[in-house]
Amino acid sequence: MSAPEVVAHRGATAEAPEHTLAAFRNAAVLGADAVECDVRMTRDGVLVCVHDRRVRRTSNGRGVVSALHLAELEQFRFGARRSRFDRWKDDEIVAVTDEPDVENGLVLTLDRLLEYVTATPGTVRLAIETKHPTRHAFRVEAELLRTLRRFGLLRGDRPAEWGGKPAFRVMSFSQLAVRRVTALAPGVPTVQLIGKRLRPVRTDLLSGSMTAVGPGLALVRADPGYVAQAHAAGKEVHVWTANSPADIDFLLTLGVDALITDRPDEALRRRTPP
Ligand code: G3P
Ligand code: CA
Repeated sequence: MSAPEVVAHRGATAEAPEHTLAAFRNAAVLGADAVECDVRMTRDGVLVCVHDRRVRRTSNGRGVVSALHLAELEQFRFGARRSRFDRWKDDEIVAVTDEPDVENGLVLTLDRLLEYVTATPGTVRLAIETKHPTRHAFRVEAELLRTLRRFGLLRGDRPAEWGGKPAFRVMSFSQLAVRRVTALAPGVPTVQLIGKRLRPVRTDLLSGSMTAVGPGLALVRADPGYVAQAHAAGKEVHVWTANSPADIDFLLTLGVDALITDRPDEALRRRTPP
């Protein structure tokens, strides 16, 4: 059993607000194997790293990402942190980085994240999640692959290899989106995410063409045998989101293939005890 990949959920979010360049940079510095990033499409077709449908939680602005142009999003200051960790107080806008880059506080575009990641290839891989693909008739998936190709991360229909592993994979809760990615680029690894509300765990999903399934931690806690079942079906298991030492240890014992966490430093410490 090989050690699971440690994936920093939305960046290293105990250190900096989610989906900021600072959070992704911190994840790389801590030694995370990969970073998880949600992408949405703006009204004018630009991919931005934003988790929620609306910008209110993570910026000082208001509105729905898909209804706003990039220029409108850029009027807002991103880096707000509301109610996920106590250290970021409600409605507080924090300084997201100490680097003099012009993006400080601006919405993080996928382009900017890829510029950072490809500046030092191999430092940290990418687990990219597409959000609400149907809103844009699957243009999100096509644009995502086009963007990855533009940065040299997608070659032919396969990801570039970094350290013998694919530089990126694409994840979605939408089965249609996962199939769309496979149809567009069959060599791209995909993760079928499985939501918290699905009980029992969807074993029928194991017959799909995805590389991995991505159940929520609660599902794996309720049915730990699912991991072995998925492995027997030839699927990797990428579990989100384990933060406590007990949850991290539980997943390490189960032999999952990727552990998605807000606390990559804790997971890395526990994966490789000193
Ligand atoms: O990595 C999967 C996980 O990120 C899914 O949940 O809501 O954090 O996007 P969410
Ligand atoms: Ca996500």
